[in-house]
Amino acid sequence: MKIGGGMYRNITPVKKQNMIGSHGTKNFYFHVDNPTYLLKPEYKECSLNSPEILVILGLRSNPMAITSLLAIDEVIKNLDKTTIDNLKKPIYTVRTPDSFDKKHEIKNIPILYSYGTEYFTRFDYHNVSSCKEEGIKALSNFIDAISMSKKIEICIDKGTMIIFKNQKILHARNEFTTNYDGYDRWLLRAYAMMSVKSLCHKQIILDER
Ligand SMILES: [Fe+2]
Repeated sequence: MKIGGGMYRNITPVKKQNMIGSHGTKNFYFHVDNPTYLLKPEYKECSLNSPEILVILGLRSNPMAITSLLAIDEVIKNLDKTTIDNLKKPIYTVRTPDSFDKKHEIKNIPILYSYGTEYFTRFDYHNVSSCKEEGIKALSNFIDAISMSKKIEICIDKGTMIIFKNQKILHARNEFTTNYDGYDRWLLRAYAMMSVKSLCHKQIILDER
């Protein structure tokens, strides 16, 4: 999948105070990528659909930078039915992450979808909110459930590639020391879809730096 004119995006710390995902020295809490785009159960042809697969390749490691992966199914185990039902209601606002050039937000959408026996989410700790009481409570419960859930933690070493389902696996990265000297942690990230029908004009253009 093509992103902003290239097949991959370089991920390395940049000195911008408000860009949590790119800063390195701040915790980048649990999220899925491209939360403002359509999730798989919502997909339309020639629309901006959220990537199904996320691929990350380590080019230069930092042993202090730990990536955490958490399956939405694990979070669901720690949620009550009322919270799950409230997360499925269209009562949330999601903003584009800091790394996007063109900022926008979408309102009145759900955070959680169930499709058959599968769950999909657009949760992004830094960019999701609700002005409804039941939405605020459900988000708080969701964050509590994340803290209780079983996670996989990995340091992405040079040459290590991880591949996971974006809308079903939340990811996070802890803070780490950066020097901005050309030798900081360096990753390549790419997205993939299971079907070309899900791509907008056979590619996806994300408004990212
Ligand atoms: Fe991410």
